[in-house]
Amino acid sequence: MCGAIRHDGVMSDASLADAFHALRSIEGPEHVLTDDDVRASFETDWTRRYHGNSLAVVRPSSTESVRAVVQVCRDHGLSLVPQGGNTGLVGGGIPHDERSIVLSTARMRHLGPVDEASASIVVGAGAPLAAVQRAARSHGLELGVDLASRESATIGGMVATNAGGLHFVRYGPMRQQIEGLVAVLGDATVVGRVPGLAKDNTGISWPALMAGSEGTLGIVTEVHLRLVTQLDEHVTALVGLESVDDAVRLCARVRRDVDSVMALEFVTADGVELVQRQRGIGAPFPGHRPALVLLIDCAGPRGSSERIAADLAAGLSDRTLVAVAIEPEPRRRLWEYREAVTESIAKVGIPHKLDVSLPASELAAFVARVPEVIAAADPGAYPVLFGHLGDGNVHVNVLGAAPDDTRADDAVLQLVVASGGSISAEHGIGVAKARYLPWVRRPEELAAFRRVRRALDPDGILNPWVWNEPGDPRTTGSAG
Ligand code: FAD
Ligand code: MLT
Ligand code: ZN
Repeated sequence: MCGAIRHDGVMSDASLADAFHALRSIEGPEHVLTDDDVRASFETDWTRRYHGNSLAVVRPSSTESVRAVVQVCRDHGLSLVPQGGNTGLVGGGIPHDERSIVLSTARMRHLGPVDEASASIVVGAGAPLAAVQRAARSHGLELGVDLASRESATIGGMVATNAGGLHFVRYGPMRQQIEGLVAVLGDATVVGRVPGLAKDNTGISWPALMAGSEGTLGIVTEVHLRLVTQLDEHVTALVGLESVDDAVRLCARVRRDVDSVMALEFVTADGVELVQRQRGIGAPFPGHRPALVLLIDCAGPRGSSERIAADLAAGLSDRTLVAVAIEPEPRRRLWEYREAVTESIAKVGIPHKLDVSLPASELAAFVARVPEVIAAADPGAYPVLFGHLGDGNVHVNVLGAAPDDTRADDAVLQLVVASGGSISAEHGIGVAKARYLPWVRRPEELAAFRRVRRALDPDGILNPWVWNEPGDPRTTGSAG
């Protein structure tokens, strides 16, 4: 541990000792972790591109304890970094200087009873998505957002990032699944309620404000989640295609003609081959190498799979490379080409993850231009492209670039902006995209961001680097 740390000056040993005494007295010293080995996994992000330092990891188990931790950090000028499953992909959930405390939500993972009457559940912010899914399914219900990181990603992290995921096309992002929440703001005020109410127009909506705020305004402690009816029967089709234009047209047709679409996902040929190599599996269409594959997943109630399969078959009747599956194992094999891409990429290098969205009319030109734009900017870098085509969301993964070499990122994101797109579709800004925020938000908007932050977190203790680069002289507390 450091003897003295800086926060607008120098923090003395005595002040640090006071801070530790106060943190340890909240829930006991066993929940204030300081060993280097223990802290290490909290200080590196999932991609391994970002590394940081912290003084300690604290593990409160209740809203009141979170409030107490926030107060200690305020009193002692320490930065506070909320962390859930640490599956975030923009470096936002790790500490970026040595005056930080990581607040892990790992002990706030309680699951309330599923309320069948209102189709909802109250859970702790640290509850992993998969645990919530299991609870909901045992009552014939489902959470509308699903991510491949489901075993680790937490509900609090998903709210904070406004996660999108695989079923966005049907149910929208995390923001739409929240009936109510409780959060501790940066000034240690507790706001919100659980359970919430389906209709409640009593002023500022905390769920609306907190969703997508990336831990900059407050720490989410409990969430009341809306659930949807679990659909018993799924039909999955994988289609090999030669152009993104064709895939975009096919997505539009499927959405028009098939009323049960859950997912419209794509992977380009390089990504499919990467998955094949990493997972030791064969090609989806042996003897063929389509430019991309489009995965279409549809679902309906018991007894609907034959009708869905027939509707899908009609929509795909002019296609030659088509594989359709209804049973779980064959469906899993088709999904593997899509769901295993992220992990396959991470096995071959440290990617720069550019998660962008484009207007449908620009998708084909964008995907076609990305490889040449990257090659021109950084000859050692190359992309793997996949994503949620039905949402206009392309995941541009840049491999071969050094972690701090952003030439390829700059070039791709310039193209995104020139094409009328967004530099973040669903992962957020974190620190990875902070320097590009002024490319898509006007100066007066960014000044308004800072004023909102300052109002709720007057000392700028919460995730000060998120939306600001590490080392950025702007402080989150300044209204400038
Ligand atoms: P963390 O990584 O711990 O934190 C993320 C951010 O939220 C940080 O800024 C952190 O400070 C803040 N935060 C965490 N908990 C809280 C809290 N309780 N209160 C306030 N702030 C908090 N994302 C998608 O949108 N769609 C996908 O399809 C998708 N698929 C993925 C697949 C894989 C294999 C992986 C590794 C990641 C994927 N992600 C996806 C990204 C990631 O899983 C999501 O961003 C997820 O919402 C992060 O949850 P987490 O608990 O891991 O958050
Ligand atoms: C996905 O859609 O699989 C995720 O957003 C993760 C990623 O971008 O790698
Ligand atoms: Zn995604």
